[in-house]
Amino acid sequence: MIAYFNGEYCPKESIAISPDDRGFLFADGLYEVIRAYRGRLFRAEDHLERLKAGARSLNLTVQDFAHLKQVAQKLLVKNGLNADATVYFQVTRGAAPRGHAFPDPKVEPTVYGIAAPFDPGPGLKKQETGVPVILVPDQRWARCDLKTCGLTANVLANQRAKESGAGEALFVRDGVILEGTHSNFMAVVDNRLVTAPASNHILHGITRKLVLELAHAEGIPVWEAPVFEADRHKISEAFITGTTTEITPVTAIDSTPVGEGEPGPVTRTLQNALRQVTKKS
Ligand code: PDD
Repeated sequence: MIAYFNGEYCPKESIAISPDDRGFLFADGLYEVIRAYRGRLFRAEDHLERLKAGARSLNLTVQDFAHLKQVAQKLLVKNGLNADATVYFQVTRGAAPRGHAFPDPKVEPTVYGIAAPFDPGPGLKKQETGVPVILVPDQRWARCDLKTCGLTANVLANQRAKESGAGEALFVRDGVILEGTHSNFMAVVDNRLVTAPASNHILHGITRKLVLELAHAEGIPVWEAPVFEADRHKISEAFITGTTTEITPVTAIDSTPVGEGEPGPVTRTLQNALRQVTKKS
């Protein structure tokens, strides 16, 4: 595998990241996962814009990553990935002797990128059948809009989902079902598509944004408002969205079936609309 590391392309195995790297010591960094369909990047600009916004919020010394689109393309080519793939980028505040405050003098961020083949098979099966999910208390920090690599709460919640045979764990804060460990959450309530507003409590998903646009285009009413756990019985359909998740129906929440316990018509309409877009990309 040929990877990208601080401006250079090199075999992944040859990369040595300093134990002083702030990504290692403090999870002081950001990441992105970009999807490629048939070797072509999907919505890369949106992902790199989000990285830029995150870098600005974290006050990283480098705050523009538009050039990474070309890097992502090169990674696909250099690794012969002209089928389905993902490109992963991670940017940290760099390597410096351990101290909580920003390094002084400033250091260059660490920038790492890797492309990998993506087998859509298992995901497509889940998109067909749907998955059960569990609800877990949101124990994350209050800047979930930043895609930082500090994912301990997500890791623990996802492991809980796995151990209980669920496809995802959804975080609940103050009675509101916010999002999954690596996906956004949407529900159909009273024939409207409802999803948590793009606040500091959720990641502003690239797929979330696209699905809301597709819903508008399909004439499905959209309401960006809290989905309360207490109103679960009003949910007729639900699904999760994400770069690798695409639109995956939710068939049960904490073992209670959603609607008929099968993917519903709004979900199917949006899945088809998303497939049209990714096919054209
Ligand atoms: N996760 N919410 C969280 C907490 C996420 O980690 C993700 C993505 C999403 C969906 O965002 P998008 O549509 O931009 O992929 C929502 C990536 C894929 C991951 O961690 O692997």
